[in-house]
Parts: sequence; C-alpha cells; structure tokens
Amino acid sequence: MSDVTENGMPQSGEARDFARFKLDRVSTPCFVVDEVAIESNLKILADVKVQSGAKVFLALKAFSMFSLAPLVMKYLDGVCASGVYEARLAKEKFCLLRGEVATYCAAFKADDMRSILETSDHVIFNSVGQKEKYGWMVKAANKHVGLRINPEHSEGTVPRYDPCSPNSRLGVPISQITADDLAGVDGIHMHTLCEQGFEPLQRTWQAALPKLKPYLADLKWINFGGGHHITRDDYDRAGLIAMIKEIRETYELDVYLEPGEAVALDAGILVGEIIDITKNEMNLAITNISATCHMPDVTEAPYRPAMLGEGDAGDVYRFGGPSCLAGDVIGDYQRDAGFAIGDRFAFLDQAHYSMVKTNTFNGIPLPSIVIWNSKTDELKTVRKFGYDDFLNRLS
Ligand SMILES: Cc1ncc(COP(=O)(O)O)c(C=O)c1O
Repeated sequence: MSDVTENGMPQSGEARDFARFKLDRVSTPCFVVDEVAIESNLKILADVKVQSGAKVFLALKAFSMFSLAPLVMKYLDGVCASGVYEARLAKEKFCLLRGEVATYCAAFKADDMRSILETSDHVIFNSVGQKEKYGWMVKAANKHVGLRINPEHSEGTVPRYDPCSPNSRLGVPISQITADDLAGVDGIHMHTLCEQGFEPLQRTWQAALPKLKPYLADLKWINFGGGHHITRDDYDRAGLIAMIKEIRETYELDVYLEPGEAVALDAGILVGEIIDITKNEMNLAITNISATCHMPDVTEAPYRPAMLGEGDAGDVYRFGGPSCLAGDVIGDYQRDAGFAIGDRFAFLDQAHYSMVKTNTFNGIPLPSIVIWNSKTDELKTVRKFGYDDFLNRLS
C-alpha cells in the first residue's frame, strides 16, 4: 500500500505481477484478476486461521467472484453475506459442499426469512427488536442467532466508513445492552473497522470488554467483522493471532473474522482505453472507464486509484469517464511516455469493491471479467456483458 489520502483512507495499490501484464491482451473495459495473487492472500489468511484457531470468512460484499469460489473455499471456512441474495450466492456457489454462511443485515424483511434460513448458518440481527421477531425461527431451524453490537468506540477517521460514528444505525449500542437483550443469542458480532491494522481492533476489544465480560460465558462465539487489512505487509499478524488465542482460551469462545478487502487486496486491475483527448486549461483524457459506473468508491470514498506504470514526469492528464456526469472524474495522471488516443491503461487494486458495485448508468458497458494466472500466464474470460445486461435491469 502507498500513501494515505486526505480522508485518511489508504491509497491503493501495488502492481505486483501486473507490472508485466500486456494490457492489449484484453478488450476494454475489463477487470483482470490474478488468481495467484488471490491465492497468496488466501494463504496468509489461512495461516492466521491455523495459528490462532479463528474461523475466517470471505465477505462477499467486497469480492463475490464466484468463478474463484473453489479456490476461496480451499483456504477459508465460509463466507459472510449482507442479505437475501448474497446469502443465496454464498450457499449455491461457495458453500454447497462445505463451509458456513453468516448473514447479517441492518434489517431483515419477513418475506426473506425463509430463504435466509435455508441458506445461512448464522443469522445476525442488528437490533433487539429484530432478534425478538425472528430469533425463534432461527432456533427452530437449528441455526445460530447473532446480535450485532456497536462498541461505541470510534477508530475511523471518515464517518461514512465508521460504524461507531454518532447516531450510527449499525448495531445495538453497547451502553444499552442488558442480559435480556442477549437471551437466546449464540454469538455477538461487531464490525467497526475499515482498511485498518491490528491496533484499532485491539483498542476496540479493550474498550468493549468491561461491558461484555459478564455475558461472555453464555455465548458460543464472537465475530469481529471485517475491515482488517490482514494481508497488507505492515499488518501485525502476530498481535492478531495472540489476541484471538487469548480470547478463545480465556472465554472459551469461537472467534470469527470476515475480511473482504484482505482477500482481494492488490489482486485485480481495471483496464481501459483513452477514447479522446481534449483540453480545458489542462489535458483531459476521456476514457471508457467511468468512476461512477465502474469504480463508484472513487467519488464516494473518495479516493484516487493508482495507475499501472504512472510516474511523476510528463504532462498531467485528468482522466474521466464517458458519462454525462461532470463529476465523473477519476484523477490526474502522468507517465513518462505521455498519453494518446487509443492508449491502454489500468487502475490498480480494483478486484474488491469495484466489480461488486458496477452499474450501467448512461448505458455504459460493464467491464468483462478475466482471470489471469501470473505463474502460467494463462488468461481466461469468465464473463462478458452486453446490451441485454443493460436492458434486463429496466422495463
Ligand atoms: C458486517 C461486515 N462484515 C465484513 C465486512 C468486510 O469488510 P472489509 O472488506 O473492509 O474487510 C464489512 C464491510 O463493510 C461489513 O460491513
């Protein structure tokens, strides 16, 4: 990882083996995911799992690439889902043969509960009201009831990404928790971090522990959600392993982690093409990659994605998408060779939270999805999109 942006969000990413990937091997726009990089992230997570005894799930919200489900399930214990459709994807594509599905949603709808119960092993409620309403069904189905708590301990710098920010709707505020609230609950869930190291997790646990201690003996598990950048080089994995072991031994609890980004970190690029170059006091590159359609976090987070091969020499070009949105701007880039119409380029670290968030605003084509094996150099197109994908979301 490189710098931190003005908003405190780390700026992605590392080129890894994409440094030698020839961009003209794919048609654009296109996500290229290196299965070797995914596997190397999975091996790190599996090592944390083995050494700590934790169970590690992939968070589908970050990375739902089911063509790689067999690879993911070779290393992890299951997946976590954010609602009815992800839970079905989890069961049908990832955990058909083995593995657990944990589903948390800010509010479950009655109509969805049947499907949720068919597909999920843990159903995690966001409020005591929802637990009272549906918890009995979860028990009757022989599944686990979870309750998300909000430790009311902020470690985030960006309120939009901080579940503990004031008035947050995410989780039961820990200061309100009573023994009655936890009646019938098998485990507690707390997701509080975003792209963070071990120390914020440790501080959160220390802040929550005095309030939780009296209840831990009656629980089976604790789920620390996602936001742990475990596969980043500078992550204190030894600290995490020690903390999990201590929790497991002291409180006899199973410990779950739900990383999303960490599974796909620096494992994918988004390849595009310069369609036109114009000038308005500065050089403007109009491309077939749209921030708003293909990388919405660029404008939402916001952040500037790193570009493969960028440098600090040459003329600066402001890259933007083909949409009508004035703010469909990706960032300013330079490279020694400059930029020309027809040039290919690639944004780094696009495997997570981009592919899962694409949309067809303005009828802009969706990027195809290609798996690359950086060891064998094999390239496999797993999905191509066309006009029908645009049409089928409308009527
Ligand atoms: C409940 C829950 N679990 C897991 C995750 C995955 O987080 P990350 O991809 O940052 O690891 C999130 C992300 O928002 C989440 O809300």
